[in-house]
Amino acid sequence: TTIVHIVGARPNFVKAAPVVSALRRRGAHQAVVHTGQHYDDRMSAVFFRDLGLPTPDVDLGVGSGSHAAQTAALMVGLEREFVARAPGIVVVYGDVNSTIAAALVAAKLRIPVAHVEAGLRSFDDTMPEEINRRVTDQLSDLCFATSPEAIGHLAAEGVSPDRVHLVGNPMIDTLLANLDRFDVAALRERVDLPERYIAATLHRPANVDDPDTVARLVARLHEIADLVDVVMPVHPRGKAAFERAGLGDHPRVHLLEPLGYLDFVALVRGAAAVVTDSGGVQEETTVLGVPCLTLRPNTERPITITHGTNRLVTESDLLQTVTKVLQGRESEALLDTTPPLWDGRAGERVAAVLSQWSR
Ligand code: UD1
Ligand code: UDP
Repeated sequence: TTIVHIVGARPNFVKAAPVVSALRRRGAHQAVVHTGQHYDDRMSAVFFRDLGLPTPDVDLGVGSGSHAAQTAALMVGLEREFVARAPGIVVVYGDVNSTIAAALVAAKLRIPVAHVEAGLRSFDDTMPEEINRRVTDQLSDLCFATSPEAIGHLAAEGVSPDRVHLVGNPMIDTLLANLDRFDVAALRERVDLPERYIAATLHRPANVDDPDTVARLVARLHEIADLVDVVMPVHPRGKAAFERAGLGDHPRVHLLEPLGYLDFVALVRGAAAVVTDSGGVQEETTVLGVPCLTLRPNTERPITITHGTNRLVTESDLLQTVTKVLQGRESEALLDTTPPLWDGRAGERVAAVLSQWSR
């Protein structure tokens, strides 16, 4: 039977790559369906090139829209695809709208669903991703967890423990597999990078959708830039709002287009610290040992705080925390304190379970 992977948004590609390649090594029959949720070259195709992912078997071209419009279009396209392909199992990744749409369509067609990165919880329903996570896990026959606390979260929601497999973190598989390809020096030849800098990425609705919030964040980022250069690849979601609020009018704020995976992680690796609201970047900085300041009131990835370099910051304590980190007064985690099973073999563990299931 065919194992069908559903990917659509930037973080999905990074998580699917090691699972797809581990299944390929096992000779599994598989297909990759791209929903088209992300479609710009810099948000999508560059990841397939960087990660050596096979060209998707199909791109549904769904594109952007409100949550309802986008999720509905995703479901219509995926239903057609699943009926035509009759997958033995559908594999979904992370917490984006493509994830929940695929899980819901597959469940109603009685196709088994496997969720990679199950059981993460922020307990904050103002994040659309939290709703996607909870619903996807309820619909999943297999829940692949990246960290131990996920098991308790799933149990508390009535997910039977025999559905849950603690496998580690496929996003970290991708990071470790590419460690010698993250080359800040090579990046410097193409992008004008200051010697010492903070790398910033912001795209959460709570940070980038409201113009007043954006204006306050721009003021804070400009204060940071008075101390140290700030390099920010700008996610398309916040681009217009940040520009309208004058981000980049500061001579030490360097705005870039979204970077491809290898360039972005090189940027992170070379940074004095990272300011972010990304989920994946909290995990990557934990393994790279780069201080991570997460501009959010909570995180679904607390293990990056207990075992890593992450800390939560608010807009009002951001500057102070950056200052402290730059003075090196905070000790950073070492590679050997990284979370259990973040060892580069998660994709292999997922593939082993999937191969059993889809025989
Ligand atoms: C989505 C995910 C989020 C994830 C993020 C990763 C949901 C609900 N959200 O957020 O969890 O952290 O991806 O990056 O699934 N746009 C472009 N070009 C593109 C893609 C998007 O210009 O290739 C712009 C469009 O204006 C679009 C906006 O970005 O309306 C938002 O895109 P969307 O996919 O709805 O959500 P993200 O904010 O990217
Ligand atoms: N990333 C990238 N280029 C960028 C910003 C992020 O390649 O300009 C990578 C990042 O290293 C991680 C993934 O994209 O592997 C995370 O995606 P994002 O922050 O968009 O989503 P989230 O993890 O918040 O859902």
